[in-house]
Amino acid sequence: MKEFNKKLAVFASGSGSNFEAIAQACVDGRIPAKIVLLVCDNANAYAIERAKKFDIPTLVLHPRDCGGKPAYEQRIVDKLNELGVDLVCLAGYMRIVGETLYNAYAGRILNIHPALLPSFKGAHGIDDAFNFGVKVFGVTVHFIDLTIDGGVIVMQRAFEYYGNDRDEVETRIHAIEHELYPEAIKKCIIHNA
Ligand code: GAR
Repeated sequence: MKEFNKKLAVFASGSGSNFEAIAQACVDGRIPAKIVLLVCDNANAYAIERAKKFDIPTLVLHPRDCGGKPAYEQRIVDKLNELGVDLVCLAGYMRIVGETLYNAYAGRILNIHPALLPSFKGAHGIDDAFNFGVKVFGVTVHFIDLTIDGGVIVMQRAFEYYGNDRDEVETRIHAIEHELYPEAIKKCIIHNA
């Protein structure tokens, strides 16, 4: 029988509810892996509090503290290499990945997006879909490439919504994200084992 003891790093910029969902799924054994690092570009992010609850080490770093994006990403890559990270999971990381990080982990960086790609790319996927008036909303987990919200799709999940309550849409999207991201991570780990 194969052993799955993969090491994950999760990147988050804000609340970190997806980070927590992944951490809980690792603890429960739903993901055959361990989060060895939270990378956070925002010292005030609630994700950092969530990491303490799970005893997960955190690297808090901002590009301006490193003299620019390449040096910032190189510091992160050095840490990922030191820890032997297998898979990077972007979870509400509101920064475009540059070549330094991408080249070091190409094909091993997942992202979650709160819309059905390739529709509604960018930082406001939920608002853009809602304001457009779509009736089918959803979530995408994909490997990243160097374009915004581009790359190979791993899983998507959709739901119909005919109401007029934007906050309800967001609540439903988050609930799906918290199930779908752990499932997609597990799928990638098993597929690549
Ligand atoms: C999530 O809805 C995620 O899909 C979105 O940010 C939210 C983070 O929530 N990401 C993007 O919009 C990326 N383009 P969280 O911090 O509670 O996990």
